[in-house]
Amino acid sequence: MSPIETLLGQMTLAEKLGQLSMAAEGAAVTGPASAADPTEDIRRGAIGGMLNLYGAERVRQRQQLAVEQSRLGIPLLIGLDVLHGHRTLFPVPLAEACLFDPQAWEMTAREAAREAARDGVALTFAPMLDVSRDPRWGRGVEGPGEDPLVAMRFARAKVRGFQGSDPAAADSLGAVAKHFCGYGAVTAGREYASVDICERTLLEVHLPAFAAAVQTGAVAVMPAFIDLAGMPMTAHAALLRGRLRGRLGFDGVIISDYNSIAELVQHGVAADLGEAAALALRAGVDIDMVAGAYRQGLPTALERGVVDMESIDAAVRRVLRLKEALGLFADPYRHCRPAEEAAALTRRRQLARQVAARAIVMLTNRADTLPLAPTTGRLAVLGPLADAAAQMRGPWWSAAIESDCVSVLAGLRAALPHAQLLHARGVPIEGADPAGVAAALEVCTQVDAIVLCLGEAALMSGEAASRARLDLPGEQRGFAEAVLERAGALDKPVIVVLFAGRPLVVPWLTERADAVLAAWFLGSEAGNAVADVLLGHTSPSGRTAVTWARDAGQVPIHYAQRPGGRPADPNNHYSSGYIDVPVQPLFAFGHGLGYGRFRLSDLRVSPAVVRPTDAIEARVTLVNDGARTARETVFLFTHDRLASVARPTLELKDWASIELRPGERATLELRVPAEELRFLGVDLEPVFEPGEVEILVGPCADRTQLLSACVRLAVA
Ligand code: NOJ
Repeated sequence: MSPIETLLGQMTLAEKLGQLSMAAEGAAVTGPASAADPTEDIRRGAIGGMLNLYGAERVRQRQQLAVEQSRLGIPLLIGLDVLHGHRTLFPVPLAEACLFDPQAWEMTAREAAREAARDGVALTFAPMLDVSRDPRWGRGVEGPGEDPLVAMRFARAKVRGFQGSDPAAADSLGAVAKHFCGYGAVTAGREYASVDICERTLLEVHLPAFAAAVQTGAVAVMPAFIDLAGMPMTAHAALLRGRLRGRLGFDGVIISDYNSIAELVQHGVAADLGEAAALALRAGVDIDMVAGAYRQGLPTALERGVVDMESIDAAVRRVLRLKEALGLFADPYRHCRPAEEAAALTRRRQLARQVAARAIVMLTNRADTLPLAPTTGRLAVLGPLADAAAQMRGPWWSAAIESDCVSVLAGLRAALPHAQLLHARGVPIEGADPAGVAAALEVCTQVDAIVLCLGEAALMSGEAASRARLDLPGEQRGFAEAVLERAGALDKPVIVVLFAGRPLVVPWLTERADAVLAAWFLGSEAGNAVADVLLGHTSPSGRTAVTWARDAGQVPIHYAQRPGGRPADPNNHYSSGYIDVPVQPLFAFGHGLGYGRFRLSDLRVSPAVVRPTDAIEARVTLVNDGARTARETVFLFTHDRLASVARPTLELKDWASIELRPGERATLELRVPAEELRFLGVDLEPVFEPGEVEILVGPCADRTQLLSACVRLAVA
């Protein structure tokens, strides 16, 4: 008998339910707090895992209780939300998505794992893979943006990065792919609301990233809080057991979200904890996070005969196997190690700075306002986000402390030690306090250029942070308009650095400012990264992974729309659109400027006739006509113009990027295995249909900027 079976054979029901129960240490941040001291529960074997606990010593103490004082000595599973770094923060995931660089995505996850694993953590509740097309929803910041292919590549990179080549290694974390599935489509962008999407959208848009995470070996999956068409995901047997375990072959652990098994009662599908626990277990959920529903409810469910011991044993077996896979039986303290050498930290900070600079998306840059001249003598650094180190962390910060984060003001001071930097906050992020406006306007008169740092507070996105209004919060718009007016009168450039966990709806700002950088939340090195871009040490190369709306009424918004029978046409009244705002977004998916000037030409696509086993190769010539070295990213979209089911007018299939010096020319190659031109047919099964497919290549999802060619698909 295997050691796990032997252990299982020795366990009482209470100990089994303990293995299925995860408790929260200390103050919980994402739901009702569990105030109780877990010591006794750990000793009794009534808790099998803990979240929100980190720090080598603290974890060691808890682990000792489990290993040395509980009857069976089973180690605890320690989980934490390590989304984009632990002590060192990289840009928030939505910002990182804008790199379009799987290698970088993997590297930052690896570094996050190294730091968190040393701090006693074994499992991260990441990557978050919810495709989000509605900027009202605050949690878009935690994920890879609006596109399923980006989400898939992000999923693979992150799982590889967190888990390394072996999740049991002392510097690896187990990855929990979340939130399965469709959470990004909450009704009206309202947090925790119901989701009503069709099966096609679920399968084509929301599921692929989870399939990719599972194929890459993610050890766990977390179902979302939401209900899908009336069935709460925590009880969704068809999707958890049927799709995830059945069709995708996932044999890892399914861990509930925070308190979500108990919330089946609130959903209105369970009368009490007994029913809730039975529904979740039968659907395939192994670990109950914080609700206490398995411990309290499963004994009742057993008595009622609505669950059986085999299902409980199967769940315990999966949890024990996970602990084994994470190396916890071999060495329960493997994740509790002394602090690293300073050199490792320095290297990590360098990576954080590079990635943060590359995550910045330059939305506009009129008359080459940026980069600022290195000789800039007097600079105004204005706005509520200018000197706001804590905000740079974004809504999840794991163990990162404020004093380790670099504000824009500090970054610019370090980069321009001889310049005169004048700072004024102007107004607070939220609320009305115009007292500082006059001083800020006065500063404008004394400088050569103005860097205006505006945006959201870190906690205005993330969990439980949906917004119905997508403009700048508080009094910032009035303040920015006053600065723009004053600067205009003085003929001084205004460069806006916009921090936010979503694409804000600010056409008035991008139309009037001389340059706008979308800086999302860039993590520990934010200010240095912003300075690197402002001063031209790094040419901005971020490309927006989400479409920017020009009006909140356009959301949800994304590029991959189907044409409909009356496609948008400004010259035709009876076509899809609005009578009061244009149908086009403010900035298309993929948009992002740099300090180079790229010209694309000569798209060559082969083979002309594509069979299912072929790969389509597209080559395009790229020239940097600008005066600076810069990186360009080129996207390849397809449009299957005639199919049994209407297809989106653009579907992303590949991208590539290259850095070119001034005047340099190169050929960029993109590749799409024909397999990826399969789509879900009328019966929602994948089909490869013969016919013509358009291949469109260019800098973003704006059709007017794309080069196009056609291939013919043939089955034989
Ligand atoms: C609730 C969130 O939805 C989830 O993403 C997170 O992992 C858990 N809380 C634990 O913090």
